[in-house]
Amino acid sequence: MSEFGKQPSAQRAAPPAGADEVPDDLSGITSTQYRAAMRHYPAGVTIVTLGADKGPVGFTATSFASLSADPPLISFNIAHTSSSIEAMLAADSLVVHFLGEHQRHLAQRFSRTAEERFADRSLWTRLDTGEPILHGTPIWVRATVHRLIPIGDHTLVVGLVTRVHDNTGDEPIAAPLLYYNGVYHRPRGLD
Ligand SMILES: Cc1cc2nc3c(=O)[nH]c(=O)nc-3n(C[C@H](O)[C@H](O)[C@H](O)COP(=O)(O)O)c2cc1C
Repeated sequence: MSEFGKQPSAQRAAPPAGADEVPDDLSGITSTQYRAAMRHYPAGVTIVTLGADKGPVGFTATSFASLSADPPLISFNIAHTSSSIEAMLAADSLVVHFLGEHQRHLAQRFSRTAEERFADRSLWTRLDTGEPILHGTPIWVRATVHRLIPIGDHTLVVGLVTRVHDNTGDEPIAAPLLYYNGVYHRPRGLD
C-alpha cells in the first residue's frame, strides 16, 4: 500500500474508545496520531495581524509558508474554530511577522486570551494601511488576500506580498523563534 493511499478496511485497527480516536475515513489514521507526528515537525513562529473593523486582530501561527516568488505569494492556515476566523474571512490585507527569539512573550500572548492580545498599546503601532505592526520584529511582510481556500477544519489563506520590512541587514540581529515538540526554541547552527 502506498504511504499516501487509502488503507483497506480489512487492515484497519479496531476503532479506539475516545471520540478523539475515531479514525478519519479518508486517511485511516486518528487525529491523535496525526497531531503526535506533527509535533516533530519544527516550524518558524509568526504572528498574523489584521486591521479589522471591530479593532485589531492577531494570532500566533506556525503554518506559514513561502509559496511563490513570481508572483510573491505566501500562505498560512487558520482554524475554523479560531476567534480570528470571521475577521480573516472579511480581511483584504494582513501582516505576517517573523518573530525573533526575543519575542517569545509575543508568541505566547497572541496564542492566549484574544481580548488581551492588543491591550498593551506600547507593543504595537499601525501601518498607514491599517494593519497592526508589532514593535521589534526583525522581518514582517504585508500581503493582500489573494485566495481563501477552505480545506478540512482550516482555511488556507494565500497572500500576495505588497511590502517587505527587513531590519536584519546582512547579519540577522536576532535568531528566529522556532516551535518544536510543544516548546519554543532558538536555532543552533552546525559546524
Ligand atoms: C506555536 C503555535 C502555533 C500556532 N499556529 C496556528 C496556525 O498556524 N493557525 C491557527 O489557526 N492557529 C494557530 N495557533 C493557535 C492560535 O494562535 C490560537 O492559540 C488559537 O486560535 C486560540 O485562540 P482563539 O481562542 O483566539 O481562537 C498556534 C498556536 C501556537 C501556540
